[in-house]
Amino acid sequence: MEKHTLRTEYSVYGSPEELPADDKSLLDAARSALEHAYSPYSRFKVGAAVRLANGEILGGSNYENASYPLCICAEQTVLTMASSRFPGVPVHAIAVTVKNPERPVTRPAPPCGACRQVICETEQKNRQPLRILLHGESGPVYVFENGRDLLPLAFDGSYL
Ligand code: THU
Repeated sequence: MEKHTLRTEYSVYGSPEELPADDKSLLDAARSALEHAYSPYSRFKVGAAVRLANGEILGGSNYENASYPLCICAEQTVLTMASSRFPGVPVHAIAVTVKNPERPVTRPAPPCGACRQVICETEQKNRQPLRILLHGESGPVYVFENGRDLLPLAFDGSYL
């Protein structure tokens, strides 16, 4: 028997103001998208924005359903939108931010497992890394250089 270790790495910026300008503007777009969240059940708002290789920036938010398992996460909203509107154009980066009306979120909320899998699929499809920026309502910003760092040992099409 051998023990193996999975290592993951990310950068921490003290606040959005410390980010490079294009990352900061992507996070601003995610923050704007968050206002369009449809979340009458959880009241939790999530905004995501993507920057595409052609310079387009698209925003999306979570979209809930009275049948709870049908709730769609913001990351999945925006990544499927990007692929539908701009097929074949790689996604360079995604920014995600959240708002909880019950209490302020002062640290980045990590994407759920399903969204990590969808981010990894987008990377595979585009054959290039997808940068991920995570922010709460305040506090630090976490930056991952690719989906694999968020989801080590991901399942992918190479097994099929
Ligand atoms: N949610 C997202 O939009 N993204 C995630 O990565 C985690 C959760 C949404 C789904 C649901 O509308 C609400 O947040 C509470 O789970």
